[in-house]
Amino acid sequence: MLSNLKAQPADKILALMAKFKEDPRPIKVDLGVGVYKNAEGVTPVMRAVKEAERRLVEEQTSKSYVALAGDPAFSDAMIDLILGDTVARDRIAAVATPGGTGAVRQAFELVKMANPDARVYVSNPTWPNHLSILKYVGIETVAYRYFDTETRAVDFEGMLADLGEAREGDVVLLHGCCHNPTGANLNLTQWQAVVDLINEKGLIAMIDIAYQGFGDGLEEDAAATRLVASSVKECLIAGSCSKNFGVYRERTGILMAISTEAEGTAVVQQNLNFLNRQNYSFPPDHGARVVTTILTDPELRADWAAELEEIRLGMLALRQQLADELQKLSGSDRFGFIAEHRGMFSQIGTTPDKVEQLRVDNGIYMVGDSRMNIAGLNKDTVPLLAKAIVDAGI
Ligand code: LMR
Repeated sequence: MLSNLKAQPADKILALMAKFKEDPRPIKVDLGVGVYKNAEGVTPVMRAVKEAERRLVEEQTSKSYVALAGDPAFSDAMIDLILGDTVARDRIAAVATPGGTGAVRQAFELVKMANPDARVYVSNPTWPNHLSILKYVGIETVAYRYFDTETRAVDFEGMLADLGEAREGDVVLLHGCCHNPTGANLNLTQWQAVVDLINEKGLIAMIDIAYQGFGDGLEEDAAATRLVASSVKECLIAGSCSKNFGVYRERTGILMAISTEAEGTAVVQQNLNFLNRQNYSFPPDHGARVVTTILTDPELRADWAAELEEIRLGMLALRQQLADELQKLSGSDRFGFIAEHRGMFSQIGTTPDKVEQLRVDNGIYMVGDSRMNIAGLNKDTVPLLAKAIVDAGI
């Protein structure tokens, strides 16, 4: 039986991670996988996470099962973090999931159960694993224009035109903030236009929000998700704690499903619980409990928010330094978009060949679609990258 299996294509991002590890060169720069690194190249355990874990070790008296949906306190805290009070709590069904990817997977499975004919509209480009999971789950995808490779901003006209072709009941997958892989985002006026189109055409909104706090701030980064969730009839939200709490390996995420009326919530909740039961029974608890501890303790929450803000400002400073350096070396403003983009990533908009050239000649690793992780840089590597980009004729 096992000999019938065919080799699977390697995930581009994870394959790059392995390649970087194997590279023996002393000077190499990892701008691949979306993991925050400080100036020393370390992905630190955040202070509040350490403290919450310490308390858990001391105070936790049982490791018994919690509930299929996870701890309700986690759902409440995450709903509050992402949505504030913009959507009535009784319209929201929620389950804890293994990371944001788990939430995305459960959301697609829910779509398939609720409407097998639904297609999912995805931005071109999007996180490659969105496409991979959709294919695996057996859902048809339709790409909508998103990134203008000339301006490196959002091709908003193209986006609206393509979404205008969607059929009633189709799902529109949107990145709540810090678009992955491009770094280019809609402004709130544009978000409102997307909301109007969703309502006009009877589409279902799905938001993937994995970088809240990495763009313009915790509240600012939630604004689009809140606008959409409070203005459409039904909405799915996949949230991740991997990045903003730095709990990558703990697999901590949440799926929310918002019904039109509170009467629908119980059945949706049963379906979410059912999906968890089929796929892995109970969701992981440790990371969720750490996050809940932080979000519900005013002092820990303030310390976490302060550290996250330092991280955000650090990435913004690196963006500005890189844009300035490129301006200086190239004598042109064509890289100004790097300072305008938000979140961990920017797509610089060059060919896979040039990306490969940067890797071979300079030990600079970025994803083949020319996505770079800004947090993989530091003050000293920014000039190296800028010089390599200009030398490669990008
Ligand atoms: C990324 O886009 O690099 C991250 O979301 C990590 C991953 O799982 O791909």
